[in-house]
Amino acid sequence: MGGLSLRRQRHGAHLPLLLLLVAAAAAAGKGNKGEHARAAGATGLRFRRESGTFKVVQVADMHYADGRTTDCEDVLPSQVPGCSDLNTTAFLYRVFRAEDPDLVIFTGDNIYGADSTDAAKSMDAAIAPAIDMGLPWAAVIGNHDQEGTLSREGVMRHLVGMKNSLSGLNPEGVEIDGYGNYNLEVSGVEGTSLGEKSVLNLYFLDSGDYSTVPSIPGYGWIKASQQVWFQQTSSSLQKKYMNENPKQKEPAPGLVFFHIPLPEFSSFTAANFTGVKQEGISSASINSGFFASMVEAGDVRAAFIGHDHINDFCGKLSGIQLCYAGGFGYHAYGKAGWSRRARVVSVQLEKTDNGGWQGVKSIKTWKRLDDPHLSTIDSEVLWNRGSNGKKETMGRRKKNPDGS
Ligand SMILES: *[C@@H]1O[C@H](CO)[C@@H](O)[C@H](O)[C@H]1NC(C)=O
Ligand SMILES: *[C@@H]1O[C@H](CO)[C@@H](O)[C@H](O)[C@H]1NC(C)=O
Repeated sequence: MGGLSLRRQRHGAHLPLLLLLVAAAAAAGKGNKGEHARAAGATGLRFRRESGTFKVVQVADMHYADGRTTDCEDVLPSQVPGCSDLNTTAFLYRVFRAEDPDLVIFTGDNIYGADSTDAAKSMDAAIAPAIDMGLPWAAVIGNHDQEGTLSREGVMRHLVGMKNSLSGLNPEGVEIDGYGNYNLEVSGVEGTSLGEKSVLNLYFLDSGDYSTVPSIPGYGWIKASQQVWFQQTSSSLQKKYMNENPKQKEPAPGLVFFHIPLPEFSSFTAANFTGVKQEGISSASINSGFFASMVEAGDVRAAFIGHDHINDFCGKLSGIQLCYAGGFGYHAYGKAGWSRRARVVSVQLEKTDNGGWQGVKSIKTWKRLDDPHLSTIDSEVLWNRGSNGKKETMGRRKKNPDGS
């Protein structure tokens, strides 16, 4: 969230060091993910043949600024010396090596514009590890990305133009609020019956920064124009998936990514979430109805956000998992002694009797901590096909999903 960080002073800019870092990252950068089949569709995103999985690493709130000269917030006194944005960079490399994701999603406040000398350079340095490792990635913006030398439109355009970026500015020919409203399709395993269909849909929205309506204080929200686009996109994807051959009985699952929590994130207590809530829910002060839009759409299984760095829970409301990632960046406020973290989302396809792959069977999640062991915590199943009111067809499916 914003308030806590606003008190911070601007730090001296050391541009040569930053340039050196960016240059080093660029020099080392070449695609090395040949084992991932990514030939389908416009995005090339698809499930892996061997495992039938598609894995996302969500990175929330890096708050990247000028690199080595930008200090760390809220670390233990003993950790202050030698701690900078470069620790955020090191954590990105560690978590990508450990998880080998198919897609990296940055959910806003990727840079902390107010402390950045050059917003484009800060963004390049922030995202560099994903590019260096040849990983496809997508981003949305939060409420701090535009506080430097680029506007919200400028910062989103920059993200769209970067190497390996699957980010989109906005849908073509549609009047829409914000920057960075787009969707990505993930195809089934190449050569299977669902190899040319989107079996998993990812939606990205700009949740704004601050209210521009004088009578409404606080943070921004997802506007009606964005909800109309989302509903139409969801509806047409569902029609295609269920009506075109090979016809499917239920929609492909949808996952939604944005920055600022919806008011519905306040619906939970420790009794019904997994993870922790260590600060208030910094949603907009009004409810613009996006949660209802997601429930009505019918395909959304989970929404993933950031913004509140020391909340990292998932809770389920009306069939939709609402998930925080927890703060990733060292220049972002946090809690000393409480590790920076990333959320991992792993989607698994259903195996057919003859060993091929069908549509999505389950969606799992866990978090990776930036501690010495890169600990995995709070592993849970977010959604299981057939367990959300839809009954499995008797006799068609094997008892054991692994085919045993
Ligand atoms: C930051 O990185 C430095 C250099 O690798 C390391 O010595 C230090 O322990 C890191 N700090 C934190 C808080 O992880
Ligand atoms: C979570 O549990 C609290 C009480 O422990 C209850 O008031 C609340 O309605 C529950 N929320 C959901 C989404 O089930």
